[in-house]
Amino acid sequence: SMVAILLAIQALKTSRVVPTTAVASKASTSAAANGEPESGTLVKDCTRMSRFWKPGTEKPRLVEDEEGGVLFYTAAASSGYGLASIEKQRQRLPVYKYRTAILYLVETHATTIIVGETGSGKTTQIPQYLKESGWAEGGRMIACTQPRRLAVQTVASRVAEEMGVKLGEEVGYTIRFEDITNNELTRIKFLTDGVLLREMMDDPLLGKYSVIMVDEAHERSLSTDILLGLLKKIQRRRPDLRLVISSATIEARSMASFFNTSRKRQGRDDGEHVPRKEPAILSVEGRGFNVQICYVEEPVPDYIRAAVSTVCSIHDEESMGDILVFLTGQDDIDAAIQLLTEDSHSRKQGLIVLPLYSGLPRADQDIIFSPTPRGKRKVIISTNIAETSLTLEGVVYVVDCGFSKQRFYNPMIDIENLVVTPISKASARQRAGRAGRIRPGKCYRLYTEEYFINEMSADGIPEMQRSNLVSCVIQLKALGIDNILGFDWPASPSPEALIRALEVLYSLGVLDDDAKLTSPAGFQVAEIPLDPMVSKMILASNDYGCSEEVITIAAVLSIQSIWFSGRGAQKELDEARLRFAAAEGDHVTFLNVYKGFIGSGKSSNWCHKNHVNYHAMKKVDEIRQQLRRIAQRLGIALKSCEGDMKAVRKAVTAGFFANACRLEAFSHNGLYKTVRSSQEVYIHPSSVLFRVNPKWVVFHSIVSTDRQYMRNVITIDPSWLTEAAPQFYQQQQLKPRPH
Ligand code: CDP
Ligand code: MG
Repeated sequence: SMVAILLAIQALKTSRVVPTTAVASKASTSAAANGEPESGTLVKDCTRMSRFWKPGTEKPRLVEDEEGGVLFYTAAASSGYGLASIEKQRQRLPVYKYRTAILYLVETHATTIIVGETGSGKTTQIPQYLKESGWAEGGRMIACTQPRRLAVQTVASRVAEEMGVKLGEEVGYTIRFEDITNNELTRIKFLTDGVLLREMMDDPLLGKYSVIMVDEAHERSLSTDILLGLLKKIQRRRPDLRLVISSATIEARSMASFFNTSRKRQGRDDGEHVPRKEPAILSVEGRGFNVQICYVEEPVPDYIRAAVSTVCSIHDEESMGDILVFLTGQDDIDAAIQLLTEDSHSRKQGLIVLPLYSGLPRADQDIIFSPTPRGKRKVIISTNIAETSLTLEGVVYVVDCGFSKQRFYNPMIDIENLVVTPISKASARQRAGRAGRIRPGKCYRLYTEEYFINEMSADGIPEMQRSNLVSCVIQLKALGIDNILGFDWPASPSPEALIRALEVLYSLGVLDDDAKLTSPAGFQVAEIPLDPMVSKMILASNDYGCSEEVITIAAVLSIQSIWFSGRGAQKELDEARLRFAAAEGDHVTFLNVYKGFIGSGKSSNWCHKNHVNYHAMKKVDEIRQQLRRIAQRLGIALKSCEGDMKAVRKAVTAGFFANACRLEAFSHNGLYKTVRSSQEVYIHPSSVLFRVNPKWVVFHSIVSTDRQYMRNVITIDPSWLTEAAPQFYQQQQLKPRPH
């Protein structure tokens, strides 16, 4: 009605809403906000704490106002969590003030970009506002995507709780292999960006959604970028669809120009039901408290030990408040937890040490989000999942190791690996900001101030530009996008990487000479929600009569690890692993573990005794059931090869031939080279083939630390390579090299 619109306009005037032509606020990176050292303030207690530390004064506020000043909202009372009613809590969140403005913008613009700090309520509130104002009526749904599965789960359950509904009914979520929604009832659906991409295969215009909120867009995950490119196309065909793009620190202007399809002619005169085509940008003012930054004076040789000793000194010398430690991955986290729990000094003080990484079982997630008991201090040791995707109440101290694990792909040598990489300034600021949630906090950076200022890059590189694009290409092909090079990407991938992907897909028999999906193989591979190489392995298992085994392997490969690591002895774990070890390699070892698990009646006790992760095995079993259903739908006969491991190895080779490696003839230290590009690689110490060093292997993935290590390795016969991919390998490459 007219009144509502007038109210909305008034709200707009008082808030920071602007069309792209006059962007009033932008995210971070100007000199004022980016930690140029200003001398003097707030440093005293930090120096007292330890000579190890040199204080700095960065103020990690992210949003500037028109005058370019930095916004600080230190006055708002926000520490009463757990006390106020849910409705009160909701109204206290910074986005609440913008509710009307947000709704007005979504109604009048095809795309609305919302920038606001972590914890301001974007993810949990905006979908509810949209629902409250009728966007989920008429059988349509509101979608909210996240790059991370754990975030999808936790946010969905929070929103269900706030709305007082049962998770899976009005509010649901979908992640790969887990669909907690209800066809009739679900109105707000949280899902990973990857799952939404998959939904497009059945419903290319995503007709069941009225609004799609692409959240955490600043992360620039591979799937987010593909999704943004596709949504832009969908918008042309669906003027009724609304997009909300939200993030903590997005470069809003470039995102807005990507979505600006208005072309000179302003959308105004299109009639009243057509939204404006230029995106609107809304900046939600944050409310975080000041965070004092402390740097180390000298570079630390071992960030895990440095992190642990920092936690101990915070605990000894600082007032109460939880500690959030950023490390790079589960292995680091396990190592740090082990050090912390070994240290009798910290144990007696009542620290509650908790890991946080994706793949964490539900029960463990719940402890992280529950309030800290009186007199105790939580130490949450996390991957960068806690950087922006999850809000942890109660954190006052942040310890930032300065690294994260990132994918890196080099198309020239065709190796994608996970590398521990320095984070960007933008990430460092985000991490620091996590300390200012309930009161002024402190961030301890395990790197020097000089390093931060002079060497850290301003922003990260979009995942699109550092990934293997095999999955991306097959998804676009399956959606009928033929001109992949000409696709409108938010960030263009390298042509080399695209060409490599096309080449691999061609060799997998997924694309034909015209770079179109082959029928049926190409469509089948695209249909299976796994990496194309794994999907191809499953298809091939049909030919070798070993689909039951290969599906088990695929299920195990799709989770992080089935072993119970951490809590103590590496030696015991190694011994346990040996009990299942198969001479053929890790894949066959997985089959032995799964067989043992089933044989035990899926017993948790059995898992415990064998250092096997019970939750992981339950998940494997679940995924396995789903893959069996998919396989049946695709006409794959479910069949066991009854112990014929040659069949299994051939099926693995049919998918993973591109990852073939040969042991160097005179190598005494287990040096392998990839057949295709002669890259030096070694078998990972966690593999059952470590030190066994068979002559020919294929691997599932590479991790690099000091060297490039192959994870999950299986022995093969080189003649299978030409059998599997005659175009990929010429005979020549498989002959012994002259030395
Ligand atoms: O998305 P954004 O970072 O802007 O904030 P949010 O995730 O919507 O979080 C808003 C509020 O909900 C914060 O105060 C969180 O602490 C709270 N929340 C929670 O208590 N439990 C969750 N699982 C998620 C959010
Ligand atoms: Mg969020």
